[in-house]
Amino acid sequence: MTVTIERAGDVAIVTIDNPPVNALSQALRQDLWNAAETLDADPSVRAVVLICEGRTFIAGADVNEFGKPPTPPHLPDLVARIETAAKPWVAAIHGSALGGGFEVALGCRFRVAVPSASVGLPEVRLGIVPGAGGTVRLPRLVGPALAAEMVTTGTPVAAPRARSQGLIDAVVEGDLEKGAIDFARAALDQSLPLPLRQRGVPAVDAAFWETSTTAVAGRAKREDAPLRALACVRTAAEADFEAAMAFERQTFLELRGSSQASALRHVFFAERAALRPPELGGVEPRRIRSAAVIGGGTMGAGIAAALCDARLPVTLVERDEVALERGLSNLRSIIDGLVKRGKISSEAAAERLSAVTGTTHYGLLAGVDLVIEAVFEDIDVKRDVFSRLSAVCRADAVLATNTSYLDPEEIAAGIKHPERFVGLHFFSPAHVMKLLEIVPTAQTTPATLATGFALARMLNKIPVRAGICDGFIGNRILKITRAQAERLLLAGATPQAVDAAMRAFGLPMGPFEAQDLGGLDIAAFQRRAARARGETPFAPIAERLCALERLGQKSGGGWYDYAKGDRTPQPSEIVAGIIAEEGSARPQRQWDEAGIIDCIVLPMVNEAAKILQDKVALRAADIDLVEIHGYGFPRWRGGLMHYAEERGLTEIAVRLNELAADGLAEPPCNQFERWVE
Ligand code: 3HC
Ligand code: NAI
Repeated sequence: MTVTIERAGDVAIVTIDNPPVNALSQALRQDLWNAAETLDADPSVRAVVLICEGRTFIAGADVNEFGKPPTPPHLPDLVARIETAAKPWVAAIHGSALGGGFEVALGCRFRVAVPSASVGLPEVRLGIVPGAGGTVRLPRLVGPALAAEMVTTGTPVAAPRARSQGLIDAVVEGDLEKGAIDFARAALDQSLPLPLRQRGVPAVDAAFWETSTTAVAGRAKREDAPLRALACVRTAAEADFEAAMAFERQTFLELRGSSQASALRHVFFAERAALRPPELGGVEPRRIRSAAVIGGGTMGAGIAAALCDARLPVTLVERDEVALERGLSNLRSIIDGLVKRGKISSEAAAERLSAVTGTTHYGLLAGVDLVIEAVFEDIDVKRDVFSRLSAVCRADAVLATNTSYLDPEEIAAGIKHPERFVGLHFFSPAHVMKLLEIVPTAQTTPATLATGFALARMLNKIPVRAGICDGFIGNRILKITRAQAERLLLAGATPQAVDAAMRAFGLPMGPFEAQDLGGLDIAAFQRRAARARGETPFAPIAERLCALERLGQKSGGGWYDYAKGDRTPQPSEIVAGIIAEEGSARPQRQWDEAGIIDCIVLPMVNEAAKILQDKVALRAADIDLVEIHGYGFPRWRGGLMHYAEERGLTEIAVRLNELAADGLAEPPCNQFERWVE
């Protein structure tokens, strides 16, 4: 049984216990239905409190059931059953009331919550719209404007704000069950509000729908669900209750079977699985109560800000006083930026900064639990840092490097207790980007590795284990992206056409715009290192741009020209001239959008398949997470490998062979299709 009924005098308490998150499985829906029947038939019950065991109120429909045909009792019917019950129900919320969970709460006559709770309709994040009356009841409760904002963004609202917006009726300090029972008794002494189905929708001015449609379409880009959710709210405002319910249900069922919803569900489960790799099952991480960052440059300051966000005391170490002042100022400006954008209060910012110690002395690190090195990408500088760290830090302190391209084995060579060393590869800006590649060496112990995963959880990041190779998972694939983009230029495409096609595919930026933003020198550095290893990296045009000091926006030009103080890319005659010279001996062709996308994305898939074969990534879904959270691959496509599987690996292999025949890509690797087995 997932539901039990107890009594507190004339109030019945219905308690749900369906771990882990009280999702509305068929069994739970049935048990709740039965409870409603039982309580309606009991004349001694005057009100019902609905409360949950465990970490949260009902977190929504059971996403695991979405691939299967819906089975009764259907959720809209259950919500209606509660709403039309003979006694008023009070939802007592802790944790999150999300999706179907909030829809059940909207079916209740009242909602009360503890201060730390939140409520919301996040369905669009799963590529669907609410399917149990959320878009129909919410505008009746708080008006179409707030309802539209909530269902199109999916952003949950914290209890205190939810109270002021009318989403809940009371915030309960102290014991939730007692508070809800008291609330129910007090409510019974007054006249009850109408159930939401009997209320009207407040009017909005005629321009509201047009303005909202434009805004939502702009935000959603190519995601279908947000505009469809807005259409549901509009229908709720313009049609009667039953017609709006039917429209919402139809939209929900249509989207539930869509490829975007399937991709977003795949990412939802992949993200959760990433935090608990099966190979580390049962391994205890070390406790992290304090941390240090070595180097306060771009990455060090961002990593320190992320650690501050997790409320860890942080020691920032720089090489001299001038660099230290710069590093602390970098950190302060990141935290000030959070205040300016309204993400945190100025009090919270002051509290974070007060937990930061800046120093040039490694001796202060004797007691820290974790050190993350983010100094220059130079093997000698890094080895010197780790030899000092291993001299002063506790034997069980975890020592990590944020290197992008150096070999962590070489960095760790000779340190004391190499079993506590690991690569933690953050992405820039480190306090924003969700991806954390965790790179063990041969000597890294499972406990050290588990600490990396535990840290990711503390920092609210998505961890992916990566093996050692040039660029680990993400930058190894990025190398192919860049090379393919140049191959396209040599074969007749323009930078503008390539960037536009990749944006149309769903990336936030094309490969040339992205290089201009990050700086062409980063890849040049990687190529120099590759040449030193005897490799021959392919970047004929980028090499010439670097030789001309065209390093991107920071030098006033790269793949594009930039007017002073303006970040808008303008086609460059210099670049066009270089492309023409470099491509003059090669066959030229017309490129359409689909052709450009294939020429870039399919070789990325091929490289990813090799990465799996080399065991640099353990799971295809891990590569999806790397691309989504490190490189902006569209989430609604489910990531690189999910996209490839949906498209069909046999078709991709054929296309790769065609590109290879034209000298535009490598043929599919051996056993290309093997990863789906
Ligand atoms: N269905 C099935 N399983 C779910 C689930 C759901 N709705 N929500 C979470 N889970 C599972 C997770 O997969 C995970 O399983 P695992 O332990 O096997 O990996 C477990 O519950 C715990 O989840 P988290 O690790 O995410 O737990 P947290 O405590 O960090 O977060 C939460 C809790 C905030 C509730 C978070 O799980 C969450 O956001 N869940 C999704 C909520 C959601 O999207 N609800 C809407 C669903 S669609 C819907 O309701 C349609 C309706 O309108 C008809
Ligand atoms: P940066 O040049 O901005 O910062 C490096 C900092 O290290 C400087 O402030 C410098 O004073 C300090 N430093 C140098 N030697 C030191 C020493 N011995 N002790 C203490 N501090 C010292 O470099 P950035 O970009 O922050 O990169 C740092 C590391 O992060 C590199 O290994 C880089 O490859 C890696 N990385 C960089 C990314 C990026 O996008 N910039 C992304 C991911 C990783």
